[in-house]
Amino acid sequence: MNSERVREQAPDASRVKRTVFLFRANKNQYRLGVISTEVRTSGNSYRVLIGPGLLETIGDAIKQKLAPSRCAIVSDTNVAPLFAEKMQKSLASAGFESALITVPAGEHSKTLAQASAVAEEMLRAGLDRQSFVIGLGGGVVGDLSGFVAAIFQRGVPHVQIPTTLLAMVDSSIGGKTGVNTATGKNLIGVFHQPILVIDDVEVLRTLPSRELGQGFAEIIKHAVIADAEMFAQLTQLGGSKLDGFKPSSLDEELPPLIRRNIEIKARIVAKDELDRAGERALLNFGHTIGHAIERAFDYQGISHGEAVSLGIVAACDVSIKKAGLPEKQRNAIVDLLQKFELPTKLPPNFPRQKIFDALKFDKKFEHGEIRFVVTSQIGSAKLSRDVAMDDLRTAVERL
Ligand SMILES: NC(=O)c1ccc[n+]([C@@H]2O[C@H](COP(=O)([O-])OP(=O)(O)OC[C@H]3O[C@@H](n4cnc5c(N)ncnc54)[C@H](O)[C@@H]3O)[C@@H](O)[C@H]2O)c1
Ligand SMILES: [Zn+2]
Repeated sequence: MNSERVREQAPDASRVKRTVFLFRANKNQYRLGVISTEVRTSGNSYRVLIGPGLLETIGDAIKQKLAPSRCAIVSDTNVAPLFAEKMQKSLASAGFESALITVPAGEHSKTLAQASAVAEEMLRAGLDRQSFVIGLGGGVVGDLSGFVAAIFQRGVPHVQIPTTLLAMVDSSIGGKTGVNTATGKNLIGVFHQPILVIDDVEVLRTLPSRELGQGFAEIIKHAVIADAEMFAQLTQLGGSKLDGFKPSSLDEELPPLIRRNIEIKARIVAKDELDRAGERALLNFGHTIGHAIERAFDYQGISHGEAVSLGIVAACDVSIKKAGLPEKQRNAIVDLLQKFELPTKLPPNFPRQKIFDALKFDKKFEHGEIRFVVTSQIGSAKLSRDVAMDDLRTAVERL
Protein backbone atom coordinates (compact mmCIF):
# COMPACT_ATOMS: atom_id res chain seq x y z
CA MET A 1 0.00 0.00 0.00
CA ASN A 2 1.37 3.36 -1.00
CA SER A 3 -0.28 6.14 0.91
CA GLU A 4 0.65 9.25 2.81
CA ARG A 5 -0.98 9.49 6.18
CA VAL A 6 -1.87 12.92 7.42
CA ARG A 7 -3.72 13.26 10.65
CA GLU A 8 -5.23 16.60 11.46
CA GLN A 9 -5.19 17.73 15.05
CA ALA A 10 -6.98 20.58 16.77
CA PRO A 11 -6.11 23.97 15.22
CA ASP A 12 -2.40 24.61 15.46
CA ALA A 13 -1.75 27.63 17.64
CA SER A 14 1.49 28.47 15.88
CA ARG A 15 -0.35 29.07 12.63
CA VAL A 16 -3.54 30.63 13.85
CA LYS A 17 -3.86 33.57 16.20
CA ARG A 18 -7.23 34.22 17.77
CA THR A 19 -8.53 37.38 19.35
CA VAL A 20 -11.84 38.40 20.81
CA PHE A 21 -12.27 42.13 20.93
CA LEU A 22 -14.68 44.98 21.11
CA PHE A 23 -15.57 46.40 17.77
CA ARG A 24 -16.87 49.90 17.22
CA ALA A 25 -20.26 49.64 15.53
CA ASN A 26 -20.71 53.39 15.31
CA LYS A 27 -19.69 56.37 17.39
CA ASN A 28 -19.98 55.87 21.15
CA GLN A 29 -21.13 52.32 20.76
CA TYR A 30 -19.06 49.21 21.19
CA ARG A 31 -20.23 45.90 19.97
CA LEU A 32 -19.35 42.71 21.70
CA GLY A 33 -19.37 39.40 19.96
CA VAL A 34 -17.04 39.98 17.06
CA ILE A 35 -14.42 37.30 16.92
CA SER A 36 -11.47 37.05 14.62
CA THR A 37 -8.72 34.81 13.42
CA GLU A 38 -5.45 35.51 11.65
CA VAL A 39 -4.60 33.44 8.59
CA ARG A 40 -0.87 33.17 7.92
CA THR A 41 0.41 32.83 4.39
CA SER A 42 3.98 32.34 3.18
CA GLY A 43 4.48 36.04 2.56
CA ASN A 44 2.07 37.69 4.90
CA SER A 45 -1.06 37.20 6.98
CA TYR A 46 -4.62 38.45 6.90
CA ARG A 47 -7.33 38.82 9.48
CA VAL A 48 -10.83 37.40 9.27
CA LEU A 49 -13.48 39.21 11.32
CA ILE A 50 -16.62 37.25 12.12
CA GLY A 51 -19.74 38.57 13.81
CA PRO A 52 -23.12 40.25 13.41
CA GLY A 53 -23.58 43.74 11.94
CA LEU A 54 -20.08 44.07 10.49
CA LEU A 55 -21.21 45.56 7.18
CA GLU A 56 -21.91 48.83 8.97
CA THR A 57 -18.36 49.05 10.23
CA ILE A 58 -16.58 47.93 7.12
CA GLY A 59 -15.06 51.35 6.38
CA ASP A 60 -13.39 51.47 9.80
CA ALA A 61 -12.08 47.93 9.46
CA ILE A 62 -10.55 48.60 6.03
CA LYS A 63 -9.11 51.93 7.20
CA GLN A 64 -6.94 50.01 9.63
CA LYS A 65 -5.31 48.31 6.64
CA LEU A 66 -5.43 50.84 3.80
CA ALA A 67 -5.09 54.59 3.36
CA PRO A 68 -8.19 56.40 2.08
CA SER A 69 -8.42 55.73 -1.64
CA ARG A 70 -10.84 54.62 -4.29
CA CYS A 71 -12.18 51.10 -4.57
CA ALA A 72 -14.43 48.91 -6.66
CA ILE A 73 -17.15 46.89 -4.98
CA VAL A 74 -17.78 43.87 -7.18
CA SER A 75 -21.10 42.24 -6.37
CA ASP A 76 -23.91 40.34 -8.10
CA THR A 77 -27.50 41.15 -8.98
CA ASN A 78 -28.89 39.30 -5.93
CA VAL A 79 -26.47 40.59 -3.33
CA ALA A 80 -25.88 44.21 -4.39
CA PRO A 81 -29.50 45.35 -3.83
CA LEU A 82 -29.43 43.81 -0.35
CA PHE A 83 -26.16 45.09 1.08
CA ALA A 84 -24.23 47.42 -1.23
CA GLU A 85 -25.80 50.66 -0.03
CA LYS A 86 -25.08 49.95 3.63
CA MET A 87 -21.50 49.16 2.75
CA GLN A 88 -20.98 52.20 0.57
CA LYS A 89 -22.20 54.45 3.39
CA SER A 90 -19.74 52.91 5.80
CA LEU A 91 -16.92 53.22 3.27
CA ALA A 92 -17.76 56.86 2.56
CA SER A 93 -17.77 57.78 6.23
CA ALA A 94 -14.29 56.27 6.53
CA GLY A 95 -13.04 58.30 3.55
CA PHE A 96 -13.22 55.64 0.81
CA GLU A 97 -14.82 56.46 -2.52
CA SER A 98 -16.42 53.36 -4.00
CA ALA A 99 -17.68 52.36 -7.44
CA LEU A 100 -20.26 49.57 -7.40
CA ILE A 101 -19.88 47.07 -10.24
CA THR A 102 -22.66 44.50 -10.44
CA VAL A 103 -22.43 41.27 -12.44
CA PRO A 104 -25.30 38.87 -13.13
CA ALA A 105 -25.75 36.37 -10.28
CA GLY A 106 -24.61 32.83 -11.06
CA GLU A 107 -21.69 30.70 -12.08
CA HIS A 108 -21.87 31.90 -15.72
CA SER A 109 -20.42 35.24 -14.56
CA LYS A 110 -17.11 33.56 -13.73
CA THR A 111 -15.53 34.13 -17.15
CA LEU A 112 -12.53 35.92 -18.60
CA ALA A 113 -14.95 38.13 -20.53
CA GLN A 114 -16.68 39.18 -17.32
CA ALA A 115 -13.34 39.78 -15.58
CA SER A 116 -12.29 41.94 -18.49
CA ALA A 117 -15.57 43.89 -18.40
CA VAL A 118 -15.15 44.53 -14.66
CA ALA A 119 -11.57 45.75 -15.19
CA GLU A 120 -12.69 48.08 -17.99
CA GLU A 121 -15.40 49.48 -15.75
CA MET A 122 -12.85 50.07 -13.01
CA LEU A 123 -10.67 52.02 -15.43
CA ARG A 124 -13.66 54.08 -16.58
CA ALA A 125 -14.42 54.85 -12.92
CA GLY A 126 -10.90 56.25 -12.60
CA LEU A 127 -9.46 53.49 -10.41
CA ASP A 128 -5.70 53.10 -10.51
CA ARG A 129 -2.74 51.34 -8.96
CA GLN A 130 -3.57 52.81 -5.52
CA SER A 131 -7.12 51.43 -5.62
CA PHE A 132 -8.39 48.16 -4.22
CA VAL A 133 -11.17 45.69 -4.91
CA ILE A 134 -13.89 44.48 -2.56
CA GLY A 135 -15.76 41.29 -3.42
CA LEU A 136 -19.26 41.37 -1.91
CA GLY A 137 -21.02 38.09 -2.60
CA GLY A 138 -20.71 34.33 -2.68
CA GLY A 139 -17.87 32.25 -4.07
CA VAL A 140 -18.56 33.36 -7.63
CA VAL A 141 -18.04 37.03 -6.78
CA GLY A 142 -15.11 36.14 -4.50
CA ASP A 143 -13.29 34.18 -7.22
CA LEU A 144 -14.05 36.74 -9.94
CA SER A 145 -13.25 39.87 -7.91
CA GLY A 146 -10.08 38.26 -6.54
CA PHE A 147 -8.96 37.44 -10.05
CA VAL A 148 -9.61 41.00 -11.20
CA ALA A 149 -7.72 42.34 -8.15
CA ALA A 150 -4.80 40.06 -9.02
CA ILE A 151 -4.47 41.30 -12.60
CA PHE A 152 -5.70 44.92 -12.39
CA GLN A 153 -2.64 47.17 -12.76
CA ARG A 154 -0.56 44.03 -12.07
CA GLY A 155 -2.25 43.46 -8.75
CA VAL A 156 -4.12 45.55 -6.18
CA PRO A 157 -5.36 44.56 -2.70
CA HIS A 158 -8.47 42.40 -2.38
CA VAL A 159 -10.97 42.50 0.48
CA GLN A 160 -13.37 39.56 0.71
CA ILE A 161 -16.88 40.11 2.07
CA PRO A 162 -18.38 36.63 1.66
CA THR A 163 -22.16 36.49 1.82
CA THR A 164 -22.79 32.74 1.59
CA LEU A 165 -21.87 30.20 4.23
CA LEU A 166 -19.82 28.32 1.64
CA ALA A 167 -17.84 31.44 0.81
CA MET A 168 -17.24 32.16 4.51
CA VAL A 169 -15.95 28.71 5.42
CA ASP A 170 -14.32 27.80 2.14
CA SER A 171 -13.84 29.98 -0.94
CA SER A 172 -12.79 33.24 0.76
CA ILE A 173 -9.89 31.46 2.46
CA GLY A 174 -6.79 30.20 0.71
CA GLY A 175 -6.17 32.75 -2.02
CA LYS A 176 -7.41 30.78 -5.02
CA THR A 177 -9.03 33.12 -7.52
CA GLY A 178 -10.07 32.48 -11.07
CA VAL A 179 -12.62 31.97 -13.77
CA ASN A 180 -14.09 29.10 -15.76
CA THR A 181 -13.52 28.31 -19.44
CA ALA A 182 -15.60 26.39 -21.97
CA THR A 183 -13.49 23.33 -21.12
CA GLY A 184 -14.01 23.33 -17.39
CA LYS A 185 -14.25 25.11 -14.06
CA ASN A 186 -11.51 27.24 -12.48
CA LEU A 187 -9.04 26.52 -15.28
CA ILE A 188 -7.69 30.08 -15.47
CA GLY A 189 -6.67 31.86 -12.33
CA VAL A 190 -4.02 33.03 -9.98
CA PHE A 191 -3.20 32.81 -6.30
CA HIS A 192 -3.93 36.19 -4.72
CA GLN A 193 -4.43 36.31 -0.97
CA PRO A 194 -6.94 38.83 0.39
CA ILE A 195 -5.73 41.50 2.81
CA LEU A 196 -8.85 41.22 4.94
CA VAL A 197 -11.94 39.01 5.13
CA ILE A 198 -15.13 40.20 6.83
CA ASP A 199 -17.88 37.70 7.64
CA ASP A 200 -21.06 39.49 8.73
CA VAL A 201 -23.20 36.55 9.81
CA GLU A 202 -26.38 38.64 9.57
CA VAL A 203 -26.17 38.53 5.76
CA LEU A 204 -26.88 34.81 5.93
CA ARG A 205 -30.48 35.56 6.92
CA THR A 206 -31.43 36.27 3.33
CA LEU A 207 -29.59 33.23 2.01
CA PRO A 208 -31.90 30.51 0.63
CA SER A 209 -31.74 27.36 2.80
CA ARG A 210 -30.45 25.29 -0.10
CA GLU A 211 -27.44 27.62 -0.32
CA LEU A 212 -26.92 27.34 3.42
CA GLY A 213 -26.89 23.56 3.01
CA GLN A 214 -24.02 23.86 0.54
CA GLY A 215 -21.96 25.52 3.26
CA PHE A 216 -22.78 22.73 5.69
CA ALA A 217 -21.61 20.13 3.16
CA GLU A 218 -18.12 21.72 3.28
CA ILE A 219 -18.32 22.08 7.08
CA ILE A 220 -19.12 18.38 7.46
CA LYS A 221 -16.25 17.62 5.07
CA HIS A 222 -13.89 19.64 7.29
CA ALA A 223 -15.15 17.79 10.38
CA VAL A 224 -14.60 14.38 8.80
CA ILE A 225 -11.11 15.10 7.53
CA ALA A 226 -9.80 17.14 10.43
CA ASP A 227 -11.92 17.64 13.52
CA ALA A 228 -13.72 14.85 15.38
CA GLU A 229 -14.77 17.26 18.14
CA MET A 230 -16.49 19.57 15.67
CA PHE A 231 -18.18 16.52 14.18
CA ALA A 232 -19.65 15.72 17.59
CA GLN A 233 -20.73 19.35 18.04
CA LEU A 234 -22.48 19.36 14.69
CA THR A 235 -24.56 16.38 15.70
CA GLN A 236 -25.82 18.53 18.62
CA LEU A 237 -26.16 21.83 16.69
CA GLY A 238 -29.63 23.36 16.97
CA GLY A 239 -30.86 20.23 18.76
CA SER A 240 -32.08 17.30 16.72
CA LYS A 241 -34.20 19.52 14.47
CA LEU A 242 -32.78 22.57 12.73
CA ASP A 243 -35.87 24.81 12.95
CA GLY A 244 -36.36 24.92 9.21
CA PHE A 245 -32.65 25.74 8.86
CA LYS A 246 -32.93 29.40 9.78
CA PRO A 247 -29.54 31.03 10.37
CA SER A 248 -31.16 33.24 13.05
CA SER A 249 -31.73 30.10 15.13
CA LEU A 250 -27.96 29.58 14.99
CA ASP A 251 -26.97 33.13 15.95
CA GLU A 252 -24.70 32.13 18.79
CA GLU A 253 -23.38 28.95 17.27
CA LEU A 254 -22.50 30.22 13.80
CA PRO A 255 -19.58 32.63 14.43
CA PRO A 256 -17.41 30.15 16.39
CA LEU A 257 -18.34 27.41 13.93
CA ILE A 258 -17.31 29.59 10.99
CA ARG A 259 -14.03 30.47 12.70
CA ARG A 260 -13.25 26.86 13.40
CA ASN A 261 -13.78 25.97 9.76
CA ILE A 262 -11.64 28.84 8.55
CA GLU A 263 -8.87 27.61 10.83
CA ILE A 264 -9.12 24.07 9.51
CA LYS A 265 -8.95 25.21 5.91
CA ALA A 266 -6.18 27.73 6.66
CA ARG A 267 -4.09 25.10 8.40
CA ILE A 268 -4.33 22.65 5.51
CA VAL A 269 -3.69 25.38 2.94
CA ALA A 270 -0.66 26.67 4.88
CA LYS A 271 1.07 23.32 4.38
CA ASP A 272 0.58 23.53 0.62
CA GLU A 273 -0.23 27.09 -0.35
CA LEU A 274 0.22 26.62 -4.09
CA ASP A 275 -1.52 23.24 -4.20
CA ARG A 276 1.62 21.37 -5.25
CA ALA A 277 2.63 19.09 -2.37
CA GLY A 278 -0.59 17.13 -2.09
CA GLU A 279 -1.59 18.29 1.41
CA ARG A 280 -4.20 20.63 0.02
CA ALA A 281 -5.71 17.67 -1.80
CA LEU A 282 -7.22 16.54 1.51
CA LEU A 283 -9.76 19.32 1.02
CA ASN A 284 -10.97 17.33 -1.98
CA PHE A 285 -12.51 14.68 0.26
CA GLY A 286 -15.87 13.80 -1.30
CA HIS A 287 -15.08 16.00 -4.28
CA THR A 288 -13.65 13.48 -6.76
CA ILE A 289 -16.95 11.64 -7.05
CA GLY A 290 -18.86 14.86 -6.19
CA HIS A 291 -17.44 16.65 -9.23
CA ALA A 292 -18.24 13.65 -11.43
CA ILE A 293 -21.84 13.72 -10.17
CA GLU A 294 -22.13 17.45 -10.93
CA ARG A 295 -20.83 16.79 -14.44
CA ALA A 296 -23.11 13.78 -14.92
CA PHE A 297 -26.07 16.04 -14.02
CA ASP A 298 -24.76 18.63 -16.52
CA TYR A 299 -24.54 21.02 -13.52
CA GLN A 300 -28.34 21.18 -13.48
CA GLY A 301 -30.75 20.21 -10.75
CA ILE A 302 -27.99 19.50 -8.25
CA SER A 303 -25.87 21.96 -6.32
CA HIS A 304 -22.16 21.58 -5.68
CA GLY A 305 -22.84 20.92 -1.98
CA GLU A 306 -25.43 18.27 -2.75
CA ALA A 307 -23.04 16.53 -5.14
CA VAL A 308 -20.29 16.72 -2.52
CA SER A 309 -22.64 15.22 0.05
CA LEU A 310 -23.14 12.21 -2.24
CA GLY A 311 -19.41 12.19 -2.93
CA ILE A 312 -18.71 12.04 0.80
CA VAL A 313 -20.99 9.01 1.17
CA ALA A 314 -19.18 7.28 -1.70
CA ALA A 315 -15.77 8.24 -0.25
CA CYS A 316 -16.85 6.73 3.07
CA ASP A 317 -17.72 3.46 1.34
CA VAL A 318 -14.31 3.42 -0.33
CA SER A 319 -12.77 4.25 3.07
CA ILE A 320 -14.44 1.26 4.75
CA LYS A 321 -12.76 -1.00 2.22
CA LYS A 322 -9.41 0.73 1.82
CA ALA A 323 -8.77 2.53 5.09
CA GLY A 324 -10.65 0.54 7.70
CA LEU A 325 -13.29 3.20 8.43
CA PRO A 326 -15.70 1.56 10.89
CA GLU A 327 -19.20 1.07 9.43
CA LYS A 328 -20.66 2.80 12.48
CA GLN A 329 -18.70 5.98 11.71
CA ARG A 330 -19.78 5.88 8.08
CA ASN A 331 -23.39 5.71 9.28
CA ALA A 332 -22.83 8.65 11.65
CA ILE A 333 -21.51 10.73 8.71
CA VAL A 334 -24.54 9.81 6.60
CA ASP A 335 -26.88 10.74 9.50
CA LEU A 336 -25.17 14.12 9.90
CA LEU A 337 -25.48 14.91 6.18
CA GLN A 338 -29.17 14.02 6.38
CA LYS A 339 -29.63 16.26 9.41
CA PHE A 340 -28.53 19.17 7.25
CA GLU A 341 -30.98 18.12 4.56
CA LEU A 342 -28.22 17.00 2.21
CA PRO A 343 -28.81 14.04 -0.14
CA THR A 344 -27.11 10.74 0.64
CA LYS A 345 -28.65 8.64 -2.12
CA LEU A 346 -28.85 9.18 -5.86
CA PRO A 347 -32.27 9.03 -7.53
CA PRO A 348 -32.71 5.25 -8.10
CA ASN A 349 -33.06 5.54 -11.87
CA PHE A 350 -30.11 7.91 -12.39
CA PRO A 351 -27.67 6.26 -14.82
CA ARG A 352 -24.55 5.49 -12.74
CA GLN A 353 -22.54 4.98 -15.90
CA LYS A 354 -22.73 8.72 -16.59
CA ILE A 355 -20.95 9.39 -13.31
CA PHE A 356 -18.37 6.79 -14.05
CA ASP A 357 -17.71 8.28 -17.49
CA ALA A 358 -17.38 11.74 -15.92
CA LEU A 359 -14.85 10.41 -13.40
CA LYS A 360 -12.42 9.59 -16.17
CA PHE A 361 -12.18 13.27 -17.07
CA ASP A 362 -11.07 14.23 -13.61
CA LYS A 363 -7.69 15.97 -13.64
CA LYS A 364 -6.75 13.94 -10.55
CA PHE A 365 -6.60 10.84 -12.72
CA GLU A 366 -3.70 12.11 -14.76
CA HIS A 367 -1.37 9.38 -16.00
CA GLY A 368 -3.95 6.78 -14.94
CA GLU A 369 -2.99 7.11 -11.30
CA ILE A 370 -5.78 7.69 -8.83
CA ARG A 371 -5.08 9.84 -5.79
CA PHE A 372 -8.13 9.47 -3.65
CA VAL A 373 -8.77 10.97 -0.23
CA VAL A 374 -9.95 8.42 2.34
CA THR A 375 -10.63 8.58 6.05
CA SER A 376 -9.88 5.78 8.47
CA GLN A 377 -11.64 7.52 11.31
CA ILE A 378 -13.66 10.71 11.72
CA GLY A 379 -11.22 13.59 12.22
CA SER A 380 -8.47 12.32 9.96
CA ALA A 381 -7.76 11.89 6.28
CA LYS A 382 -5.04 10.61 4.04
CA LEU A 383 -4.27 10.54 0.37
CA SER A 384 -4.32 6.99 -0.93
CA ARG A 385 -2.85 5.60 -4.13
CA ASP A 386 -4.33 2.24 -3.33
CA VAL A 387 -7.79 2.97 -4.69
CA ALA A 388 -8.67 1.44 -8.04
CA MET A 389 -11.29 2.57 -10.54
CA ASP A 390 -13.28 -0.53 -9.63
CA ASP A 391 -13.52 0.64 -6.02
CA LEU A 392 -15.03 3.89 -7.23
CA ARG A 393 -17.41 2.05 -9.53
CA THR A 394 -18.67 -0.11 -6.66
CA ALA A 395 -19.16 2.94 -4.41
CA VAL A 396 -21.02 4.85 -7.14
CA GLU A 397 -23.22 1.86 -7.89
CA ARG A 398 -24.20 1.67 -4.23
CA LEU A 399 -25.17 5.31 -4.00
N1 LIG B 1 -11.56 29.91 -4.34
C1 LIG B 1 -11.80 28.79 -3.71
O1 LIG B 1 -10.96 28.26 -2.98
C2 LIG B 1 -13.14 28.15 -3.86
C3 LIG B 1 -13.54 27.12 -3.01
C4 LIG B 1 -14.84 26.61 -3.11
C5 LIG B 1 -15.69 27.11 -4.09
N2 LIG B 1 -15.28 28.09 -4.93
C6 LIG B 1 -16.17 28.66 -5.94
O2 LIG B 1 -17.27 29.26 -5.28
C7 LIG B 1 -18.38 29.28 -6.16
C8 LIG B 1 -19.61 28.86 -5.40
O3 LIG B 1 -19.84 29.77 -4.35
P1 LIG B 1 -21.28 29.99 -3.74
O4 LIG B 1 -21.87 28.68 -3.38
O5 LIG B 1 -21.16 31.03 -2.70
O6 LIG B 1 -22.13 30.49 -5.00
P2 LIG B 1 -22.64 31.91 -5.51
O7 LIG B 1 -21.63 32.95 -5.37
O8 LIG B 1 -23.19 31.66 -6.87
O9 LIG B 1 -23.85 32.23 -4.51
C9 LIG B 1 -24.98 31.39 -4.51
C10 LIG B 1 -26.28 32.19 -4.75
O10 LIG B 1 -26.64 32.89 -3.56
C11 LIG B 1 -26.84 34.28 -3.84
N3 LIG B 1 -26.45 34.97 -2.62
C12 LIG B 1 -25.20 35.14 -2.13
N4 LIG B 1 -25.25 35.70 -0.92
C13 LIG B 1 -26.55 35.89 -0.62
C14 LIG B 1 -27.23 36.41 0.51
N5 LIG B 1 -26.58 36.78 1.60
N6 LIG B 1 -28.58 36.46 0.47
C15 LIG B 1 -29.26 36.03 -0.63
N7 LIG B 1 -28.68 35.51 -1.71
C16 LIG B 1 -27.34 35.45 -1.70
C17 LIG B 1 -25.98 34.54 -5.05
O11 LIG B 1 -26.42 35.66 -5.76
C18 LIG B 1 -26.16 33.25 -5.84
O12 LIG B 1 -27.37 33.28 -6.55
C19 LIG B 1 -18.03 28.37 -7.31
O13 LIG B 1 -17.72 29.15 -8.44
C20 LIG B 1 -16.79 27.63 -6.84
O14 LIG B 1 -15.93 27.27 -7.89
C21 LIG B 1 -14.04 28.62 -4.82
ZN1 LIG C 1 -16.51 22.11 -2.51
